[in-house]
Amino acid sequence: MSSDTQYDSLATAYDLVWKIPAVRPLLPLLTSTIKATGNFENAAVLDLACGTGIGLRIMKSFGASKLVGVDISPQMLEIAKTTVPDITVHTADCSKPLDHLGLEPGSFDVVLGFWLLNYCPSSVEMAGMWGNISQFLKPGGKFVGIIENHDVARPSSVQDMKYGGMMSEVKELENGQGWSVHVVFDTTPKIEFDAHRLRGPILEEEARKAGFGEIKYNRPSWDDIGLVMSEGIGGEDGKKKEWWTELVEDPPNYVIVTTKNG
Ligand SMILES: C[S@@+](CC[C@H](N)C(=O)[O-])C[C@H]1O[C@@H](n2cnc3c(N)ncnc32)[C@H](O)[C@@H]1O
Repeated sequence: MSSDTQYDSLATAYDLVWKIPAVRPLLPLLTSTIKATGNFENAAVLDLACGTGIGLRIMKSFGASKLVGVDISPQMLEIAKTTVPDITVHTADCSKPLDHLGLEPGSFDVVLGFWLLNYCPSSVEMAGMWGNISQFLKPGGKFVGIIENHDVARPSSVQDMKYGGMMSEVKELENGQGWSVHVVFDTTPKIEFDAHRLRGPILEEEARKAGFGEIKYNRPSWDDIGLVMSEGIGGEDGKKKEWWTELVEDPPNYVIVTTKNG
C-alpha cells in the first residue's frame, strides 16, 4: 500500500499500538526525556507525523499551549482532533516543503517526530524532513523523536511476536542507504504498515546539514520496564522481569533528542 494512504484505514484502531509491550516502555521514556529536555510551560509545539496526537497530548500535559499537528493521513488527523482539544491540524507530506501551511518559520519551541523519520526511502526525503524540522524551530529549539533502531537490520526483540510487534519483512534498499520494513502488531484488528529505515550516519548527516547539534539516543531502561510491568502490560509473561530482557538489550526503537544550533 502506498505510504500516503496506508494509515487511513488504521486510524480508529491505531492507538492499540501504544499498549503493545514492544512499544509501551517508550511512553515513560518519552516523559522522562522531555522532562530532562526543558520547561515547556506555554511552549509552542509542532508534531510532524502526529498521527492520532499522542505527542501533542504529552506536551499538553507539560503545559504546552500552542499545539499543531501535521500528518499525511487525514483520517489519523480526524482522530487527533477528537483526542486533543485545541489543536490545529494540517494534512501534508513532511518530506516536502511545508511553506504552504502558513506556519511561521522559527516560531516553535519543540518539534516532535515520533516515527516521522522512518518514512524516508532515501537521503532526499531525510533532508526534506530535517529541513522542515529546522525551518519551524526557534534557534536553540528541541527536536524529540522516536526512530526505529537503525544499528541492526532486524533487532532480535522484533524477529517474532514475543513482544507483540514484529518486523515481518526487512529488505535492503537498492540505494544501499538502509532497509524497507513491514511491521505487524498483534492487535485486533491487525495493525500493519510499511516503513523505511535509513542507516544512522545518513540520518545524522542530514540533521547536521540542517543545523542540528549532536543527537542523543535514549533507550528504554529497566525503570521504564518496571513502570509498564506495574500497568499489567504483557499479561502473565510480563510479570516476570527476565521476560523483558531482549527488549531492553536489543530494542526496536530509540527516543532521540537534538537541539537546533543557536
Ligand atoms: C507509526 S505512526 C506514528 C503516529 C504518531 N506520531 C504516534 O507516535 O503515535 C506514523 C504516522 O506517520 C504518518 N506519515 C507517514 N509518512 C508521512 C509523511 N511523509 N509525512 C507526514 N506524515 C507521514 C502516518 O500517516 C502515521 O500517522
